[in-house]
Parts: sequence; C-alpha cells; structure tokens
Amino acid sequence: MSSATPPSTAGEMLQRSREFLARKGVEEARLEAELLVAHALGLDRLRLYMQLDRPLTPAEIDRARDLLVLRGKRMPLAYIRGAREFYGRSFNVGPGVLIPRPETELIVDLARALPAVRVADLGTGSGCLAVTLALELPQAEVFALENSAAAALCAGANIARFAPRVQLIEGDGFESLERLAREGGPFDLIVSNPPYIERSEAGQLAPEVSEHEPHAALFAPEGDPDHFARRLLECCTRADSPVLAPGGSLLVELGHRQAPRVRALAQKLKLEVQLVRDGAGIERVLSCRR
Ligand SMILES: C[S@@+](CC[C@H](N)C(=O)[O-])C[C@H]1O[C@@H](n2cnc3c(N)ncnc32)[C@H](O)[C@@H]1O
Repeated sequence: MSSATPPSTAGEMLQRSREFLARKGVEEARLEAELLVAHALGLDRLRLYMQLDRPLTPAEIDRARDLLVLRGKRMPLAYIRGAREFYGRSFNVGPGVLIPRPETELIVDLARALPAVRVADLGTGSGCLAVTLALELPQAEVFALENSAAAALCAGANIARFAPRVQLIEGDGFESLERLAREGGPFDLIVSNPPYIERSEAGQLAPEVSEHEPHAALFAPEGDPDHFARRLLECCTRADSPVLAPGGSLLVELGHRQAPRVRALAQKLKLEVQLVRDGAGIERVLSCRR
C-alpha cells in the first residue's frame, strides 16, 4: 500500500494490499491480504467481502498499513494476528514461540486412540499438543514441559484459556520428566515435537521461518539431528527408573530424513516401532510402545 493517496474503501485497501504482498514475494498474497485487512478492520473474511464499499477511517488505514509493513518484512501472519489454529482451536502465538504446524496434529490423532492416564509433552511451545491432548483425553493428567521463558508464558496463557488442569513446568524437559516419573510414577504417554531441523538446511527455509521463529525451537544441536529423539528413547527405556511405563507409548515428530536412523535405535532398545506418514507421505511420527 505504498501509493501516496490513501485507499478510500475496504475493497480498494484489499486490492492494494494484495499487490503489495505479491511484490514482496509473499506466497498466497490474495488470501493473506484478505486475512490482514480483515484483522485490521476487526472483521472476519466473509464480513470484509460484505463491506467492500465501506469507507475507511484514518485510524483503520494506519493500522492496516502498519500490519502490511510487518508482513512485507516477512513476519509470519500468525505472529501479526497473534493466533494460529491447531486441531480446530485458535491458539495464542507470538514472537519467541514456534507456530503450530498442521503435521503435528498427527500426534493428536494417534494419541486419541491410546488409553493414557499420565501424559507428558516435552517442548510444549505454545502448549498446542498438551492442551489438545487434555481436551481429547479428559481422564488424563497432562504435564507440559518447556525450557524457553517466552514459550512457557504463551503456553500458560493457552492452558489457562482452554485446559487449566494441564500442569506447566518450566525448565529442562528431560530433568522434569525424570523428576515427575520418580515422584509420581512413569508416564503412559510421552509426546514431543522437538527441534529437529539440521543447521545445514537453514538456507532452504522461508524467511518467515528462518528470520522470525525461535532457532532454539527449530534446529537440532549442530551435527546431531537425532539428539532429542535419541534422548527421549533412552530415558524411556533406561534400566533404572524408565520414564515410560510398561505398555506405554512414545510419539515423536521427526524431520524428513530421520526415520530410518531413529527406527533402528528404537528397535535396538526393544521397543515396538511404527512410523506414521503425514499428508505429504513423509514418515513424520515415530510411534513406539514399550
Ligand atoms: C519444535 S518446538 C515444538 C512446540 C510445540 N510442541 C509445537 O508442536 O508447536 C520445540 C519446543 O521445545 C522446546 N525445547 C527445546 N529444548 C528443550 C528442553 N531441553 N526442555 C524443554 N523444552 C525444550 C523449545 O523451546 C520449543 O518450544
């Protein structure tokens, strides 16, 4: 929306926003312009289309312009709107917190079929998995573990809003898992979408991801993309006080090249293993039973 004369109607603002976002290289510029302009005007997309002739106030024009400038700098739409849908619910998100992804919903689909009573989510981020599991498994006691202060704050807000019985524990998730298992017994279900992207793949990420999402949530430790999956498998199966109960399940989201390595490790640790593909056909979730 760089033109000197301000747009006079919502429809004109929409048209200019679409052109601006397309020039900035934003994919799906049309849809994103609709969502941004609707957000700036306090409308949903349908109502925006019903009010295309509506005149705009100077405050609305300023607000839309500010949001478009942010999106033009490739800030993710979810951060600008402060929300992202996950499993049919709108979760608060913001800078410093991983934006929930649709492929992670696969973990919820798999977990719903399990008889889980004591559940932990390691690396809860926005809390999307812990909250959804608490709502889908109403009998379960659910713990959300997170070591980033920004993410824990966001998870706390989503937990308070949707599922206040989820217990959020800030700090190293592996230490928390071991302490909780010692104090209250092992878990029936442990889920995790850990950081798994290889540093060498950073250049292939969209600027929305590489320049705006927290690197501690995206990237595995240098040279060790299996770090989190391996640590989870090891602490689930340790001879002394394993954190996973006999018959319990571990569900871990994987990166696109991890599956063969992680499957071999799980088999070596005598777990029953299944790899579940996502909608794109990628082996996305390691599902293990002890
Ligand atoms: C890929 S994000 C997943 C967030 C959320 N579960 C989701 O699926 O959208 C990984 C999360 O793990 C957290 N994390 C990384 N290492 C951790 C650790 N040692 N203990 C607890 N959380 C950790 C990161 O801060 C981040 O929020």
